[in-house]
Amino acid sequence: MNKIKKIGVLTSGGDAPGMNAAVRAVVRTAVYNEVEVVGINEGYQGLIDRNVRNLKSRSVGQIIQRGGTILRSARSEAFCTSEGRKKAFEYAQELELDGLVVIGGDGTFTGATVFSEEYNIPVIGIPATIDNDIFGTDATIGYDTALNTVVEAVDKIRDTASAHNRLFLIEVMGRDAGFIALRAGIATGAESILLPEFEEYSSKLQEYLKNKHKKSKPNGIIIVAEGSKVKAYDIYKEIITNHPEYDVRLSILGHMQRGGSPSAYDRVVSSQLGVAAVEALLSNRSNEMVGIRNSEVVYVPLSDAIKEDKKLNRNLLRIVDILSI
Ligand code: F6P
Repeated sequence: MNKIKKIGVLTSGGDAPGMNAAVRAVVRTAVYNEVEVVGINEGYQGLIDRNVRNLKSRSVGQIIQRGGTILRSARSEAFCTSEGRKKAFEYAQELELDGLVVIGGDGTFTGATVFSEEYNIPVIGIPATIDNDIFGTDATIGYDTALNTVVEAVDKIRDTASAHNRLFLIEVMGRDAGFIALRAGIATGAESILLPEFEEYSSKLQEYLKNKHKKSKPNGIIIVAEGSKVKAYDIYKEIITNHPEYDVRLSILGHMQRGGSPSAYDRVVSSQLGVAAVEALLSNRSNEMVGIRNSEVVYVPLSDAIKEDKKLNRNLLRIVDILSI
């Protein structure tokens, strides 16, 4: 007989479209296997504050298409302390939880690793962040949707940029990673992209400002990742000061990138990973992340997912250079 009878599920860190689809998959897979599920509200903080609810199959109806997370999300400072984690464990024991599924990014996984090591509670992580910066998985839940949101926004800005012959700097999210910026730049035909990973591209931007634009292109889009060393606002000020020939505008897309209905791709991946996470706990796996590689589920130690850096594809930048002439 399997010893897993009751599990907890939570969403933590920045929300990402598809988290609800993952919660749905976790709950329904558990119910399918006659395992009870407790939904923990507001991430790890919910375990400390005793803020939970029982989830049944019908509790997760009609949420696969909804952005945000019905469990709500938080970055818990209390859980970063040993007293906070002790409280969380005591409540998990009272609830008789045999395992936890945590849905979030690297902060969530760091918390999970420490908690699981301190209290020997089985934990499986599902990668969910629009930033896509988790090692060991091709995709993180929410990235595809956010990317499409950015592309739609930049296309609209391109219309007005072209109507007014303007140069637009568009700052996109991604924390310290340039995944959203790079792909959004390619998909929108951006003239230049600034990424945290390849700082030499800020000198390419200077080149662009000095030569290329005036010669051939009446308007332009420059995508700046929020984690770039040179910040979008500073470039904007510099262009105003040193390049009065440009009519420049700055647009910071902000949190709209995290909202909206998840794409079909994100819904499918969320469903795959939700099922895989519960099945992993049932097979007595622990301290692992379930990820996606070449459309198949893979298991990655949480410590690797946290420690290793996921690399940007440099070949994609080469494409930008060729296609933005
Ligand atoms: O990690 C997701 C993310 O949206 C990042 O892209 C961004 O840097 C950060 O969260 C913003 O966090 P907050 O919601 O706390 O402003």
